[in-house]
Amino acid sequence: MSNIRIPKGWEIDESLATPESLYLNRRRFLRQTGIAGLGALAVATGCGGAPAQTTAPQASGGIAPPESWKSLYPAKRSEKYTLDRVLTDENVAARYNNFYEFTTDKEGVAALAGKFPYYPWQVEVTGLVKTPKTYGIDDLLKLVPLEERLYRHRCVERWSMAVPWTGIPFAALIKKLEPLSSAKFVRLVSFLKPELAPGQAMQTWYSWPYYEGITMAEATNELALLATGIYGHPMPMQHGAPIRLVTPWKYGYKSIKSIVKIEFVETRPPTFWNDLAPDEYGFVSNVDPAIPHPRWSQATERLIDTGEMIPTRPFNGYGEFVASLYA
Ligand code: MTE
Repeated sequence: MSNIRIPKGWEIDESLATPESLYLNRRRFLRQTGIAGLGALAVATGCGGAPAQTTAPQASGGIAPPESWKSLYPAKRSEKYTLDRVLTDENVAARYNNFYEFTTDKEGVAALAGKFPYYPWQVEVTGLVKTPKTYGIDDLLKLVPLEERLYRHRCVERWSMAVPWTGIPFAALIKKLEPLSSAKFVRLVSFLKPELAPGQAMQTWYSWPYYEGITMAEATNELALLATGIYGHPMPMQHGAPIRLVTPWKYGYKSIKSIVKIEFVETRPPTFWNDLAPDEYGFVSNVDPAIPHPRWSQATERLIDTGEMIPTRPFNGYGEFVASLYA
């Protein structure tokens, strides 16, 4: 273990998110290609880093959302989900993202993702469901009314934010889709487009596309949201346009972005991070300050806009909604 590089302070994010063996593979790759560091990797992928922003980012970060979505935003806010902290500044949230399909550099995601064509978009609904069907995103958005919710968002890397998501309650969508009673889990898959997503093209040690899964009980819990918007407008690509999962009581890596497939299955599906490092990233992955990651404590978290360190709450503060699922 002594040859493992343990970065200091918040530089720690990047390696913490990555299992050590993969992190070392990546360093080997960088050496082999003669690239000295991640900054150079950004150059190699054509990424110049996110430009300095002085105004709120545009909804698409480059590609304008379709006219048909204009009437959907802002959606009515549900007053049920309240915060114990102020909302994170939109500019900060939109410039600090995990989206490995583009880059592992959080501040570089927005610039690389901004050109990604997220419309038109199709979502395949398949597996143990009454009518397997591929939906255009507009048809999916017509099935259930959008609503806005203020949620905390906690990454396994110990940073957190609080954002207003807009989206479809997953429970309501599942009711419309009519899964069979044999369905016990929902498997979700992101896009595979290495020609447009440099992280997929360069980081061949990851098993793309990103895939996740939750139980039916979790998917139909009232908190589970398929988010399509943020801060009162359609979601920019860096947050996972046009549709991503939000399960605020779980670590952020469960909240799979840019979903192309929803599959109802009987047995527990494999998941991206769990397959890569099962000792570090569980299937359930509920936020729990009492269970440390093998290499760092989860007792506190850092608010990304103020830098303040605060205690982490069990279930990220959502125990009243979800604790009974795990009792
Ligand atoms: N989904 C995909 N497809 N690819 C990713 O790399 N990263 C996850 C999750 N969903 C990720 C993903 C992680 S680790 C986190 S913390 C959240 O997205 C970050 O969401 P945000 O950038 O909108 O804050």
